[in-house]
Amino acid sequence: MSGKYSCLEDIPGIGPSTAEKLRKIGILSPKQLSLYSLDELASMMDVTDYSRLSKALYSVREAFHQSKIISATEFSSYRRGLPRISTKVSSIDGLLRGGLEPRCIYEFVGEYGSGKSQLCFQLSVTAQLTINNGGVDGKVLYIDCEGTFSETRICRIAERFNLSDPLRGIFVSQPVNVDEQIDCIRIIAPNLIEEKNVKLIVLDGLVSHVRAEYRGREMLVARQQTLNYMLNFLMRIAMLYNVYVIVTNQIISKPTAGGSVSAAGGNVVAHGTTHRLFLQHSSLSNVKRGLEHLVRKMVVEDSPYLPKGEHAFFAICEDGVVDVL
Ligand SMILES: Nc1ncnc2c1ncn2[C@@H]1O[C@H](COP(=O)(O)OP(=O)(O)OP(=O)(O)O)[C@@H](O)[C@H]1O
Ligand SMILES: [Mg+2]
Repeated sequence: MSGKYSCLEDIPGIGPSTAEKLRKIGILSPKQLSLYSLDELASMMDVTDYSRLSKALYSVREAFHQSKIISATEFSSYRRGLPRISTKVSSIDGLLRGGLEPRCIYEFVGEYGSGKSQLCFQLSVTAQLTINNGGVDGKVLYIDCEGTFSETRICRIAERFNLSDPLRGIFVSQPVNVDEQIDCIRIIAPNLIEEKNVKLIVLDGLVSHVRAEYRGREMLVARQQTLNYMLNFLMRIAMLYNVYVIVTNQIISKPTAGGSVSAAGGNVVAHGTTHRLFLQHSSLSNVKRGLEHLVRKMVVEDSPYLPKGEHAFFAICEDGVVDVL
Protein backbone atom coordinates (compact mmCIF):
# COMPACT_ATOMS: atom_id res chain seq x y z
CA MET A 1 0.00 0.00 0.00
CA SER A 2 2.82 2.40 0.77
CA GLY A 3 4.70 1.82 -2.51
CA LYS A 4 8.36 2.69 -2.20
CA TYR A 5 8.34 2.75 1.61
CA SER A 6 6.45 0.06 3.46
CA CYS A 7 7.13 1.24 7.01
CA LEU A 8 8.34 4.41 8.72
CA GLU A 9 11.88 3.04 9.20
CA ASP A 10 12.24 2.68 5.40
CA ILE A 11 12.14 6.46 4.95
CA PRO A 12 15.54 8.14 4.67
CA GLY A 13 16.08 10.20 7.83
CA ILE A 14 13.78 8.14 10.07
CA GLY A 15 15.52 5.92 12.59
CA PRO A 16 13.87 3.61 15.13
CA SER A 17 13.49 6.28 17.82
CA THR A 18 11.84 8.85 15.49
CA ALA A 19 9.61 6.09 14.13
CA GLU A 20 8.59 5.27 17.69
CA LYS A 21 7.80 8.94 18.41
CA LEU A 22 5.69 9.17 15.26
CA ARG A 23 3.75 6.02 16.15
CA LYS A 24 3.13 7.42 19.62
CA ILE A 25 1.29 10.40 18.13
CA GLY A 26 -0.69 8.14 15.80
CA ILE A 27 1.31 8.45 12.59
CA LEU A 28 1.72 4.86 11.51
CA SER A 29 2.63 4.87 7.84
CA PRO A 30 4.84 6.75 5.37
CA LYS A 31 1.81 7.86 3.36
CA GLN A 32 0.13 9.25 6.46
CA LEU A 33 3.34 11.12 7.34
CA SER A 34 3.18 12.86 3.96
CA LEU A 35 0.04 14.71 5.13
CA TYR A 36 2.12 16.82 7.53
CA SER A 37 4.36 19.86 7.45
CA LEU A 38 7.53 20.12 9.53
CA ASP A 39 6.01 22.81 11.78
CA GLU A 40 3.00 20.66 12.56
CA LEU A 41 5.16 17.70 13.50
CA ALA A 42 7.34 19.89 15.70
CA SER A 43 4.25 21.05 17.59
CA MET A 44 3.07 17.48 18.10
CA MET A 45 6.29 15.69 19.08
CA ASP A 46 9.70 16.21 20.55
CA VAL A 47 11.91 16.86 17.51
CA THR A 48 15.67 16.84 18.01
CA ASP A 49 16.93 16.75 14.45
CA TYR A 50 14.86 19.00 12.17
CA SER A 51 17.01 18.47 9.12
CA ARG A 52 16.56 14.68 9.16
CA LEU A 53 12.80 15.02 9.61
CA SER A 54 12.68 17.61 6.86
CA LYS A 55 14.51 15.20 4.54
CA ALA A 56 12.05 12.46 5.50
CA LEU A 57 9.08 14.69 4.67
CA TYR A 58 10.59 15.53 1.30
CA SER A 59 10.98 11.81 0.52
CA VAL A 60 7.40 10.89 1.42
CA ARG A 61 5.97 13.86 -0.46
CA GLU A 62 7.90 12.80 -3.50
CA ALA A 63 6.69 9.21 -3.12
CA PHE A 64 3.00 9.81 -2.51
CA HIS A 65 1.83 13.13 -3.81
CA GLN A 66 0.54 13.55 -7.31
CA SER A 67 1.97 17.05 -7.41
CA LYS A 68 3.84 16.41 -10.63
CA ILE A 69 2.53 18.52 -13.47
CA ILE A 70 0.14 16.78 -15.86
CA SER A 71 -1.83 18.20 -18.76
CA ALA A 72 -5.41 19.28 -18.08
CA THR A 73 -6.49 16.60 -20.57
CA GLU A 74 -4.84 13.90 -18.47
CA PHE A 75 -6.25 15.49 -15.33
CA SER A 76 -9.72 15.47 -16.80
CA SER A 77 -9.62 11.83 -17.83
CA TYR A 78 -8.16 10.82 -14.46
CA ARG A 79 -10.96 12.66 -12.70
CA ARG A 80 -13.66 11.19 -14.92
CA GLY A 81 -12.35 7.73 -14.11
CA LEU A 82 -13.06 8.17 -10.40
CA PRO A 83 -16.48 6.78 -9.44
CA ARG A 84 -19.16 8.89 -7.78
CA ILE A 85 -21.35 7.84 -4.86
CA SER A 86 -25.01 7.86 -5.80
CA THR A 87 -27.50 9.23 -3.27
CA LYS A 88 -30.08 6.94 -4.92
CA VAL A 89 -32.32 9.98 -5.24
CA SER A 90 -32.39 10.77 -8.93
CA SER A 91 -33.22 14.45 -8.47
CA ILE A 92 -30.20 14.95 -6.17
CA ASP A 93 -27.87 12.81 -8.30
CA GLY A 94 -28.93 14.92 -11.29
CA LEU A 95 -28.26 18.14 -9.39
CA LEU A 96 -24.79 16.90 -8.38
CA ARG A 97 -24.01 15.61 -11.89
CA GLY A 98 -24.02 11.95 -10.97
CA GLY A 99 -23.59 11.89 -7.20
CA LEU A 100 -20.73 12.75 -4.86
CA GLU A 101 -17.25 13.09 -6.34
CA PRO A 102 -14.08 12.33 -4.35
CA ARG A 103 -11.19 14.70 -3.55
CA CYS A 104 -13.39 17.52 -2.30
CA ILE A 105 -15.71 18.50 0.57
CA TYR A 106 -19.51 18.61 0.36
CA GLU A 107 -21.23 20.80 2.92
CA PHE A 108 -24.89 20.19 3.77
CA VAL A 109 -26.25 23.26 5.56
CA GLY A 110 -29.74 23.68 6.92
CA GLU A 111 -32.07 24.16 9.84
CA TYR A 112 -32.89 21.30 12.21
CA GLY A 113 -34.91 18.54 10.59
CA SER A 114 -34.00 19.61 7.07
CA GLY A 115 -32.49 16.19 6.30
CA LYS A 116 -28.74 16.68 6.68
CA SER A 117 -28.18 13.63 8.89
CA GLN A 118 -30.72 11.48 7.03
CA LEU A 119 -28.88 12.12 3.79
CA CYS A 120 -25.59 11.26 5.51
CA PHE A 121 -27.13 7.99 6.77
CA GLN A 122 -28.28 7.17 3.25
CA LEU A 123 -24.85 7.91 1.76
CA SER A 124 -23.24 5.79 4.51
CA VAL A 125 -25.27 2.93 3.05
CA THR A 126 -24.92 3.66 -0.66
CA ALA A 127 -21.13 4.16 -0.38
CA GLN A 128 -20.93 0.49 0.61
CA LEU A 129 -22.67 -0.71 -2.58
CA THR A 130 -20.60 -1.99 -5.49
CA ILE A 131 -19.50 0.46 -8.17
CA ASN A 132 -22.02 -1.07 -10.59
CA ASN A 133 -24.79 -0.34 -8.09
CA GLY A 134 -23.87 3.29 -7.49
CA GLY A 135 -21.49 2.84 -4.56
CA VAL A 136 -17.72 2.71 -4.22
CA ASP A 137 -17.45 -0.59 -2.35
CA GLY A 138 -15.96 1.21 0.63
CA LYS A 139 -16.43 1.59 4.33
CA VAL A 140 -17.46 4.75 6.14
CA LEU A 141 -16.14 6.80 9.05
CA TYR A 142 -19.04 8.64 10.68
CA ILE A 143 -17.82 11.37 13.05
CA ASP A 144 -20.92 12.25 15.02
CA CYS A 145 -20.42 15.52 16.92
CA GLU A 146 -24.12 15.98 17.69
CA GLY A 147 -25.02 12.54 19.06
CA THR A 148 -27.62 11.87 16.38
CA PHE A 149 -26.15 8.83 14.64
CA SER A 150 -28.96 6.29 14.20
CA GLU A 151 -28.12 2.66 13.48
CA THR A 152 -31.88 1.96 13.28
CA ARG A 153 -32.27 4.40 10.40
CA ILE A 154 -29.16 3.03 8.69
CA CYS A 155 -30.51 -0.54 8.86
CA ARG A 156 -33.93 0.57 7.62
CA ILE A 157 -32.39 2.45 4.69
CA ALA A 158 -30.10 -0.49 3.85
CA GLU A 159 -33.13 -2.79 3.41
CA ARG A 160 -34.17 -0.71 0.42
CA PHE A 161 -30.84 -1.46 -1.29
CA ASN A 162 -30.57 -5.10 -0.19
CA LEU A 163 -27.38 -4.36 1.70
CA SER A 164 -27.06 -6.87 4.50
CA ASP A 165 -25.26 -5.88 7.68
CA PRO A 166 -24.66 -2.19 6.81
CA LEU A 167 -23.35 -1.46 10.33
CA ARG A 168 -20.27 -3.62 9.77
CA GLY A 169 -19.13 -1.16 7.14
CA ILE A 170 -19.45 1.95 9.31
CA PHE A 171 -17.03 3.12 11.99
CA VAL A 172 -18.64 5.59 14.39
CA SER A 173 -16.82 8.09 16.53
CA GLN A 174 -18.51 10.53 18.90
CA PRO A 175 -15.87 13.12 19.88
CA VAL A 176 -16.84 15.01 23.02
CA ASN A 177 -14.76 18.11 22.40
CA VAL A 178 -12.72 19.94 19.76
CA ASP A 179 -9.47 18.11 20.61
CA GLU A 180 -11.11 14.73 20.08
CA GLN A 181 -12.72 15.98 16.88
CA ILE A 182 -9.31 17.00 15.55
CA ASP A 183 -7.88 13.59 16.53
CA CYS A 184 -10.69 11.89 14.58
CA ILE A 185 -9.86 13.89 11.49
CA ARG A 186 -6.09 13.92 11.74
CA ILE A 187 -5.29 10.48 13.13
CA ILE A 188 -8.29 8.12 13.08
CA ALA A 189 -9.44 8.95 9.54
CA PRO A 190 -6.12 8.25 7.74
CA ASN A 191 -5.56 5.07 9.78
CA LEU A 192 -9.01 3.71 8.90
CA ILE A 193 -8.59 4.67 5.25
CA GLU A 194 -5.31 2.77 5.04
CA GLU A 195 -6.24 -0.20 7.22
CA LYS A 196 -9.98 -0.68 6.77
CA ASN A 197 -10.88 0.53 3.29
CA VAL A 198 -12.78 3.59 4.51
CA LYS A 199 -13.73 5.72 1.49
CA LEU A 200 -16.36 8.10 2.86
CA ILE A 201 -15.84 10.42 5.82
CA VAL A 202 -18.93 12.05 7.30
CA LEU A 203 -18.41 14.84 9.81
CA ASP A 204 -21.91 15.44 11.18
CA GLY A 205 -21.89 18.69 13.14
CA LEU A 206 -18.74 20.49 12.00
CA VAL A 207 -19.19 23.57 14.20
CA SER A 208 -21.01 22.19 17.28
CA HIS A 209 -18.02 21.72 19.60
CA VAL A 210 -16.18 24.73 18.23
CA ARG A 211 -19.14 27.03 18.88
CA ALA A 212 -19.51 25.71 22.41
CA GLU A 213 -15.82 25.83 23.36
CA TYR A 214 -14.74 29.11 21.77
CA ARG A 215 -17.22 31.61 23.15
CA GLY A 216 -17.29 35.35 22.74
CA ARG A 217 -15.67 37.79 20.35
CA GLU A 218 -12.22 37.47 21.89
CA MET A 219 -12.14 33.79 20.90
CA LEU A 220 -13.25 34.43 17.33
CA VAL A 221 -9.81 34.30 15.73
CA ALA A 222 -8.89 31.04 17.48
CA ARG A 223 -12.28 29.58 16.61
CA GLN A 224 -11.97 30.38 12.92
CA GLN A 225 -8.40 29.08 12.85
CA THR A 226 -9.55 25.77 14.37
CA LEU A 227 -12.34 25.42 11.83
CA ASN A 228 -9.93 26.28 9.05
CA TYR A 229 -7.47 23.66 10.26
CA MET A 230 -10.12 20.92 10.43
CA LEU A 231 -11.40 21.64 6.93
CA ASN A 232 -7.91 21.99 5.53
CA PHE A 233 -6.86 18.65 7.00
CA LEU A 234 -9.98 16.96 5.63
CA MET A 235 -9.11 18.38 2.24
CA ARG A 236 -5.55 17.04 2.44
CA ILE A 237 -6.94 13.60 3.26
CA ALA A 238 -9.52 13.79 0.46
CA MET A 239 -6.82 14.64 -2.09
CA LEU A 240 -4.12 12.24 -0.89
CA TYR A 241 -6.40 9.21 -0.60
CA ASN A 242 -9.06 10.03 -3.23
CA VAL A 243 -11.81 9.78 -0.64
CA TYR A 244 -15.24 11.38 -0.31
CA VAL A 245 -16.00 13.91 2.43
CA ILE A 246 -19.25 15.37 3.72
CA VAL A 247 -19.62 17.88 6.54
CA THR A 248 -22.91 19.13 7.94
CA ASN A 249 -23.30 22.66 9.16
CA GLN A 250 -25.84 24.64 11.15
CA ILE A 251 -27.50 27.87 10.18
CA ILE A 252 -27.44 31.07 12.21
CA SER A 253 -29.84 33.99 12.15
CA LYS A 254 -28.31 37.13 10.74
CA PRO A 255 -28.48 39.83 13.41
CA THR A 256 -29.23 42.59 10.90
CA ALA A 257 -31.48 41.39 8.09
CA GLY A 258 -35.02 40.57 9.18
CA GLY A 259 -35.40 36.83 9.69
CA SER A 260 -32.76 35.76 7.16
CA VAL A 261 -30.28 32.98 7.89
CA SER A 262 -26.78 32.05 6.86
CA ALA A 263 -24.39 29.15 7.38
CA ALA A 264 -22.36 29.06 10.59
CA GLY A 265 -18.58 29.38 10.49
CA GLY A 266 -18.37 32.50 8.35
CA ASN A 267 -15.97 32.90 5.46
CA VAL A 268 -13.63 30.17 6.69
CA VAL A 269 -16.23 27.46 6.20
CA ALA A 270 -17.59 29.04 3.04
CA HIS A 271 -14.10 28.97 1.51
CA GLY A 272 -13.02 25.70 3.11
CA THR A 273 -15.70 23.48 1.62
CA THR A 274 -16.04 22.78 -2.09
CA HIS A 275 -19.78 22.42 -2.67
CA ARG A 276 -22.14 24.24 -0.31
CA LEU A 277 -25.68 22.87 -0.51
CA PHE A 278 -28.58 24.31 1.45
CA LEU A 279 -31.29 21.93 2.66
CA GLN A 280 -34.69 23.43 3.40
CA HIS A 281 -38.22 22.44 4.32
CA SER A 282 -40.36 23.00 1.28
CA SER A 283 -43.70 22.41 -0.32
CA LEU A 284 -44.49 21.27 -3.82
CA SER A 285 -47.67 20.48 -5.72
CA ASN A 286 -47.89 17.42 -7.92
CA VAL A 287 -46.05 15.19 -5.44
CA LYS A 288 -46.29 11.39 -5.15
CA ARG A 289 -49.23 10.60 -2.87
CA GLY A 290 -48.36 10.47 0.80
CA LEU A 291 -45.16 12.49 0.47
CA GLU A 292 -46.78 15.97 0.34
CA HIS A 293 -45.82 17.03 3.88
CA LEU A 294 -42.35 15.42 3.79
CA VAL A 295 -40.85 17.46 0.98
CA ARG A 296 -37.42 19.09 1.29
CA LYS A 297 -35.36 21.09 -1.18
CA MET A 298 -31.61 21.05 -1.84
CA VAL A 299 -30.30 24.31 -3.29
CA VAL A 300 -26.81 24.94 -4.63
CA GLU A 301 -25.33 27.88 -2.73
CA ASP A 302 -21.74 27.71 -3.91
CA SER A 303 -19.80 25.29 -6.10
CA PRO A 304 -16.96 25.39 -8.63
CA TYR A 305 -19.21 24.03 -11.40
CA LEU A 306 -22.85 23.85 -10.25
CA PRO A 307 -24.90 26.98 -10.94
CA LYS A 308 -25.99 28.85 -7.82
CA GLY A 309 -29.69 28.48 -7.19
CA GLU A 310 -30.13 25.21 -9.09
CA HIS A 311 -32.18 22.91 -6.90
CA ALA A 312 -33.70 19.48 -6.40
CA PHE A 313 -36.69 18.31 -4.41
CA PHE A 314 -36.64 15.20 -2.23
CA ALA A 315 -38.55 13.70 0.69
CA ILE A 316 -37.62 11.95 3.90
CA CYS A 317 -39.78 8.93 4.65
CA GLU A 318 -39.55 5.66 6.56
CA ASP A 319 -37.44 4.20 3.73
CA GLY A 320 -34.90 7.03 3.82
CA VAL A 321 -34.39 9.87 1.37
CA VAL A 322 -36.48 9.47 -1.79
CA ASP A 323 -37.61 11.23 -4.96
CA VAL A 324 -40.88 13.11 -4.73
CA LEU A 325 -42.09 13.03 -8.32
N1 LIG B 1 -38.21 6.93 10.77
C1 LIG B 1 -38.47 8.02 10.08
N2 LIG B 1 -39.44 8.05 9.17
C2 LIG B 1 -39.73 9.16 8.49
N3 LIG B 1 -39.09 10.32 8.64
C3 LIG B 1 -38.11 10.38 9.54
C4 LIG B 1 -37.75 9.24 10.30
N4 LIG B 1 -36.75 9.59 11.11
C5 LIG B 1 -36.51 10.90 10.88
N5 LIG B 1 -37.33 11.37 9.93
C6 LIG B 1 -37.40 12.73 9.42
O1 LIG B 1 -36.11 13.29 9.40
C7 LIG B 1 -36.14 14.56 10.05
C8 LIG B 1 -34.81 14.76 10.73
O2 LIG B 1 -33.87 14.91 9.70
P1 LIG B 1 -32.34 15.02 10.05
O3 LIG B 1 -32.06 14.16 11.23
O4 LIG B 1 -31.62 14.71 8.81
O5 LIG B 1 -32.23 16.54 10.43
P2 LIG B 1 -30.95 17.44 10.40
O6 LIG B 1 -31.02 18.31 9.22
O7 LIG B 1 -29.75 16.60 10.56
O8 LIG B 1 -31.22 18.32 11.70
P3 LIG B 1 -30.25 18.73 12.91
O9 LIG B 1 -29.68 20.07 12.55
O10 LIG B 1 -31.17 18.81 14.09
O11 LIG B 1 -29.23 17.67 13.07
C9 LIG B 1 -37.26 14.49 11.04
O12 LIG B 1 -37.75 15.78 11.27
C10 LIG B 1 -38.24 13.63 10.32
O13 LIG B 1 -38.99 14.47 9.49
MG1 LIG C 1 -28.46 16.18 12.08
